[in-house]
Amino acid sequence: MKNRHSVRSYSDRKIEKEKMDELRKAIDECNRSSGLNIQLVTEEPTAFDSFMAHYGKFSGVRNYIAMVGKKGEDEKIGYYGEKLVLLAQSMGLNTCWVALTFSKRKAGCKVGSGEKLLCAIALGYGNTQGVEHKSKPMTDLCKVQGEMPGWFKDGMEAAMLAPTAMNQQKFLFTLDGEKVTAEKTGGMYSLVDLGIVKYHFEVGSGKEGLFKL
Ligand SMILES: Cc1cc2nc3c(=O)[nH]c(=O)nc-3n(C[C@H](O)[C@H](O)[C@H](O)COP(=O)(O)O)c2cc1C
Repeated sequence: MKNRHSVRSYSDRKIEKEKMDELRKAIDECNRSSGLNIQLVTEEPTAFDSFMAHYGKFSGVRNYIAMVGKKGEDEKIGYYGEKLVLLAQSMGLNTCWVALTFSKRKAGCKVGSGEKLLCAIALGYGNTQGVEHKSKPMTDLCKVQGEMPGWFKDGMEAAMLAPTAMNQQKFLFTLDGEKVTAEKTGGMYSLVDLGIVKYHFEVGSGKEGLFKL
């Protein structure tokens, strides 16, 4: 989580077959447990070759994960997508969540009736490792009665490292007794962001499955 940063410029280096196979397997598992229709798109340069993509400073993107789901599944998209982002990072790959600056029309994925392509996750070997984002202070992002337990602080630190659309960090975690809740506090794509930060919180706090999605 500390090493992951959004990377928008990718080299020609191919992603090894073993890594692709591992990603495909993980995507299948995510689809089985979530009901989403996440797809790995490989060697498809056109979706990231539009004016918008260049305007958004993307270059060399040929591989991406298409995050396809039904209406009302935005939070799940965030949660399972970030699981795949961190897996890719652990395999030495770079990533970037993309909602706006790519062509949904040109994307090489199948979108069934009642489904939509909400976001893509660019994937590959970056020309750089990206840079750390600025974060709001923890006190702005959570509410805790009394002293903050260590596991909650670890969860918050992980959530603060999470990518959010335009780095807006519009989320709030609350600890009430032993119960943790998380909510969005507005902004574009904030339900996707909420799913992403929930996944980070679970990993950081060591409380897997804390949030039922
Ligand atoms: C849901 C979502 C949508 C995003 N959409 C775009 C996008 O359209 N274009 C872009 O360049 N970056 C996009 N990003 C990347 C964010 O700008 C980036 O995550 C944020 O600035 C924090 O930086 P970091 O990922 O390096 O920590 C998106 C991120 C998220 C989570």
